[in-house]
Amino acid sequence: MSFNSQIITLNDGNKIPQVGLGTWQNKNSEATIDSVYQAIKIGYRHIDTAAIYGNEEEVGVGIKKAIDEGIVKREDLFVTTKLWGTQQRLSQQAIKQSLERLQLEYVDLYLIHWPVALKSRTIDPSDPKNYLCIPMNPDNESARDVDVNWTFVDTYLALQHLKKEGLAKSIGVSNFSINNLKELFKHPLFKIKPVVNQVEIHPLLPQDELIAFCKEHDIVCEAYSPLGSTSSPILTNETLVSIAEKLKIDVAQVCISWAVQRGYVVLPKSSQVERIERNFNNLAKLSDEDFATVSALKEKYGEKRFVKPDFTPFKVFE
Ligand code: A2P
Repeated sequence: MSFNSQIITLNDGNKIPQVGLGTWQNKNSEATIDSVYQAIKIGYRHIDTAAIYGNEEEVGVGIKKAIDEGIVKREDLFVTTKLWGTQQRLSQQAIKQSLERLQLEYVDLYLIHWPVALKSRTIDPSDPKNYLCIPMNPDNESARDVDVNWTFVDTYLALQHLKKEGLAKSIGVSNFSINNLKELFKHPLFKIKPVVNQVEIHPLLPQDELIAFCKEHDIVCEAYSPLGSTSSPILTNETLVSIAEKLKIDVAQVCISWAVQRGYVVLPKSSQVERIERNFNNLAKLSDEDFATVSALKEKYGEKRFVKPDFTPFKVFE
């Protein structure tokens, strides 16, 4: 088995390809369709999207094109989407709408996108897309409009039914802290463990403690923004550039290889086919010394989290 095609078995027995294609911020329709289609042609078998990315339709068309051309069978693909905050009270409706947009009968993995419900009272329900918005708090313009009367535990209990109904083969969470997971575990109706926790992980945010906690509970971490997201300073970091030059690969591939070696799922995003190809085919096993250098980057340059929306009064990541 080559370095880019390793499979991890989840705690419910389902299998997830370790390297997947991230699609956040891929908006342009044609480019998104093509990036998903080309990624599958290149060999990716895992595609990650979310309702709020606003690209499920394009992701679905890219997948359908690859299936129709016989490049892949549906059952050999692993597709993830995520429940947006405005629909945490309406998860069954939300997953059905996602499936319709994706043109799929089921998703392999359905995640609670953030452990916070958002208010949807002012949303006109006549068009499902109206839910795909970020309502801001009228009393605090920088914060999202949090629905304090609904908890992520309520949402997760509903997700357990979606798995039983077969709409999602597996269920999990995203952006959950250790404390959020502990709170979930102690509810008496909590029966089905999340298979994954998708969080920001990269060399400047290695998340050692969270990864160790999840491992202890048989939950696989998934790294989003593994390259540090858009305009990432990681990609120009001098230490990483020198390792990349030595190995004759991009810094992006150093970060992806480091993640693969650390043993969790990694979801690099690119809208450019050449990069999508290199991010899959140019992975390299890092020497012990290079691996240690990347792992120590945070000590040298300081910890940096790039994705940190304001959900006041809910404190995410705590
Ligand atoms: P683009 O989509 O134009 O390729 P992350 O996965 O951490 O969210 O990072 C994604 C960012 O990294 C995007 O801005 C993406 O830009 C860029 N990117 C992805 N792969 C590479 C690569 N091999 N070399 C340089 N930049 C890359």
